[in-house]
Amino acid sequence: MELVNRPRRLRRTDCIRRLNRETRLSVDSLIYPVFVDETLSGVRPIESMPGQNHYGLDRVHEAVEDCLNAGVNHCILFGLPARKDACGSSAWAEHGVIQEAVRTIKATFPDFTVITDVCMCEYTDHGHCGILRRHGHDCDVDNDETLEYLAKIAVSHAAAGADMVAPSDMMDGHVAVLRKALDKNGFQDTAIMAYSAKYASAFYGPFRAAAGSAPSLGDRKGYQMDPHNRKEALRECALDAAEGADILMVKPALSYLDVIRECAETFDLPLCAYSVSGEYAMIKAAAAAGLVDEQRIMCETALSIFRAGANMLITYYAQELAKAIYMGEIG
Ligand code: PBG
Repeated sequence: MELVNRPRRLRRTDCIRRLNRETRLSVDSLIYPVFVDETLSGVRPIESMPGQNHYGLDRVHEAVEDCLNAGVNHCILFGLPARKDACGSSAWAEHGVIQEAVRTIKATFPDFTVITDVCMCEYTDHGHCGILRRHGHDCDVDNDETLEYLAKIAVSHAAAGADMVAPSDMMDGHVAVLRKALDKNGFQDTAIMAYSAKYASAFYGPFRAAAGSAPSLGDRKGYQMDPHNRKEALRECALDAAEGADILMVKPALSYLDVIRECAETFDLPLCAYSVSGEYAMIKAAAAAGLVDEQRIMCETALSIFRAGANMLITYYAQELAKAIYMGEIG
């Protein structure tokens, strides 16, 4: 029988296989998370995330230099403050850990993109992402009161020089409130990357250990999304888009590739995926046990996220992926 369409013609040589790739990766689409600890001088390895570090304000420039050397031009900052209280007041302090980190980085590397995570869980003594309202033994986060605090945090980050703020709190109405506050304070050009579809996930475990942000009571199911739901992610994205988000995000990435695909097809905004701490730690642990080839698994998982439709990726493997792209192992 005569086969007219023979796919294998396009698989004949390495060169043709490259020509035929549907998904292209670029170092420009990689964002590296950096943890800055206000109480630290120097660099300290993060136990729950092998290969990652906490940086003191005196050494945060090294994280940026490592990124630039690898070809990565964007970072997202997470802060560990010296002091925590019920309303997370260190989060919007003029000389808070993130504000100082942004100033330090921007003073030396003005063109390096600095995105800041806007949330309260690393700054509150109870570890929740907002202001707590207690009902007897129960508690929940007061959505509307939290919005006022988030606005203050975002404005303080923008004032320090952040290019983009990324609210990860999952409060309703957060993008509109942040946009209004940023504009009112003269930061019309500060973009908002909204953690739109953020699931209540066990994959955040190593991050919470690293950031000391696990809730001391209750959980985050009241404001983060239920992993059973897909259409709800579309509603969350639609709200953030209507409120003025510049970039939408789905998080985690690997277990939510269907959500990434659907959001990419439905919205005309750029879509970011966050390959979170648990995804990273699982690969590291499996590789350390000699069970998988770390380099290939790293490439294959990143590829799956872009193939699903993500336009950019926050990943702890950003530097290694950039090197793999340069070496032609992926891309
Ligand atoms: C803050 C925040 C979290 C992560 C990013 N921002 C933790 C959480 O929601 O508990 C997780 C990132 C990761 O696991 O790599 N709300």
